[in-house]
Amino acid sequence: MISERLSEQGFEVTEADSGERAVELLTEFAFDIVVSDLRLPGISGQQVIEDALTRYPGIIAIVVTGYGTVKDAVDAIKRGAADFVAKPFQFDELLHVLHTALEQRRLKNENAYLRQQLDERFGLGAIIGRSTRMRALYQLIETVAATPTTILIDGETGTGKEMVARAIHQTSARRGQRFVALNCSAIPEPLLEAELFGHVRGAFTGAIATRQGRIEQADKGTLFLDEVGTMPMPLQMKILRVLQEREFERIGDGKSIKVDVRVVAATNSDLSTMVRSGTFREDLYYRLNVIQVTLPPLRERKEDIPVLVQHFLAKYANGSASPLVAQDAMRRLMAYPWPGNVRQLENAVERAMALLGGRSTVEMNDLPPEIQAAPVTVMPSLDFPEAGVDLPGMVDQIERDLIDRALVRTGGNKAAAASLLRLKRTTLVEKLKRLPAH
Ligand SMILES: Nc1ncnc2c1ncn2[C@@H]1O[C@H](COP(=O)(O)OP(=O)(O)OP(=O)(O)O)[C@@H](O)[C@H]1O
Ligand SMILES: [Mg+2]
Repeated sequence: MISERLSEQGFEVTEADSGERAVELLTEFAFDIVVSDLRLPGISGQQVIEDALTRYPGIIAIVVTGYGTVKDAVDAIKRGAADFVAKPFQFDELLHVLHTALEQRRLKNENAYLRQQLDERFGLGAIIGRSTRMRALYQLIETVAATPTTILIDGETGTGKEMVARAIHQTSARRGQRFVALNCSAIPEPLLEAELFGHVRGAFTGAIATRQGRIEQADKGTLFLDEVGTMPMPLQMKILRVLQEREFERIGDGKSIKVDVRVVAATNSDLSTMVRSGTFREDLYYRLNVIQVTLPPLRERKEDIPVLVQHFLAKYANGSASPLVAQDAMRRLMAYPWPGNVRQLENAVERAMALLGGRSTVEMNDLPPEIQAAPVTVMPSLDFPEAGVDLPGMVDQIERDLIDRALVRTGGNKAAAASLLRLKRTTLVEKLKRLPAH
């Protein structure tokens, strides 16, 4: 009867007259929903539900219970069943339970989808760069994100400190909660305290209503203190207390509020120097600096420049095909020392795209003047290690690397790659045989 009524409601129903049969059917087809009585001849309903949930973790399992089996139904729910209906029941009750469960699953899928989009926009996936330095950074982020530890991010301007702070949040267990960012240098000193701690009504002139501060807003989530080096000394002490005791008071209020925040701080000034000169509290420095994440300047990872350029070209092409970059222009981009790091590179690409008009190649002239003027060396600067270098081995590696890149560029076409490298095709093939593979 249930199956008939469900069919009338538009469900496609398959019946099983025993637990064994149900398990068999489940091996053959990925059903969306399973409705089962707990007491069945042969294999029990629990067994069927358990089997269904193991096989299809997203399946909606509805348990029908009779007199005296409510406890078993509760157990089934603990193990992952969506809901239960108790006998005797009206058909509409079952229908309601089914629709609710379906709606919940839809919301769950939607959440998973939105979360994935957030991960793409703000997670590790949003950070471009495959250099050794950056790969080490991703590993560090993954390791520290899992802990509740306070993190200090330092690096020159434009190296991606804010991006990394978001990626840490997005990679951590707190990702479903808020990421609250506060730029300590952007808010005038007298307002900063109220911004951080909030205030009660009448706490000071202009405090017309009680307001939550950023710390409170970040409860259970992550608080990002950007440019933490600019924080005035008296506030440094108050923040230290939040880090140590996980509690604070709103301005004008005696009542302590407990918070559970993960603090990530960023600075582009050297805090240890500021500690020595007495402009940053030493105790706060050690509290913040439990784990230090240092972002390398772009000039120390030049191999990331081409991928970053590609990334920003695609970003500003806005869905249309990205232009190519003329070789001399790319060489110049690689040679320039980028004091403003990735942000400056992004601006340069955006500018070039604006100047492009209808052309399909970015030329030297499209680059900002200071970059056009940068002297070009063939090799990006290499560190010269204390222990010296194995020159033949290194030259082999460089050759191999450039050949690999040429092959990638040409989609594996050896003749075209050889021409990019100013080699004869046969020379390229010989080198491929001789050189060590990566
Ligand atoms: N590795 C990267 N991949 C992609 N985009 C990046 C990367 N690093 C930085 N960016 C971009 O560069 C710009 C600057 O990054 P961000 O604001 O995170 O830098 P910052 O270190 O906080 O700079 P500042 O010290 O000036 O505040 C942003 O638009 C960011 O999206
Ligand atoms: Mg920043």
